[in-house]
Amino acid sequence: MRIDILTIFPDLFNGVIQNSIVKRAIDKQIVEIFVHNIRDYTKNKHLKVDDSPFGGTAGMVLQIQPIADLIEKLKTERTYNHIIYTTPDGKTLNQAKANMLSLSENLIILCGHYKGIDQRIRDHYITMEISIGDYVLTGGELAAAVITDSVVRLIPGVISDIESALSDSFQDNLLAPPIYTRPAEYNGWKVPDVLLSGNHKEIEKWEMEQSLEKTKKLRPDLLNDK
Ligand code: ADE
Repeated sequence: MRIDILTIFPDLFNGVIQNSIVKRAIDKQIVEIFVHNIRDYTKNKHLKVDDSPFGGTAGMVLQIQPIADLIEKLKTERTYNHIIYTTPDGKTLNQAKANMLSLSENLIILCGHYKGIDQRIRDHYITMEISIGDYVLTGGELAAAVITDSVVRLIPGVISDIESALSDSFQDNLLAPPIYTRPAEYNGWKVPDVLLSGNHKEIEKWEMEQSLEKTKKLRPDLLNDK
């Protein structure tokens, strides 16, 4: 998979790309991530990429020219499955969307900023608008990093044990069951007996019951989505 991230703050992505599972995916050549600085594409001699909105609203808006030129250039080089825009008024990211996006070959993620971007970019280029929750961030970069992380870890071969991605919370609209490791007793606090029993059928049953109970208690809305 190839992900092209379009931003005015490219340095914000260093941490995401140079660490952990995303870095491993890049090292294994399962994913390529290119971070493009929108400012490099402006034709403005002062390297300006934003301007005040028509109509007098306060704030600044990212201009159409540098973003349109960058997207047009990328589109001549390959076909993209989706051109995503990160915005609080998009559809909220969930595991189903991450699963769907993980099947893509090429993705563009455009990070919004200031008051937003010129609506014509949204109308003519964007195929999917994603929010990561009902709150407003300073910019779309953190949202793009969240989308990238949630998608990349689902690509086969990125997590060595695919089971571990399949048993994540939300994969079946259920929260993951509690999980324990050695020692089996600490400070008198014991791991549930069933997990030490070696009876895989019983363990599976217990985990399913725990998942259901936890979901009912903490996220009943997920059960209604089924
Ligand atoms: N940009 C600002 N806030 C955001 C959010 N909640 N999700 C996605 N992009 C954003």
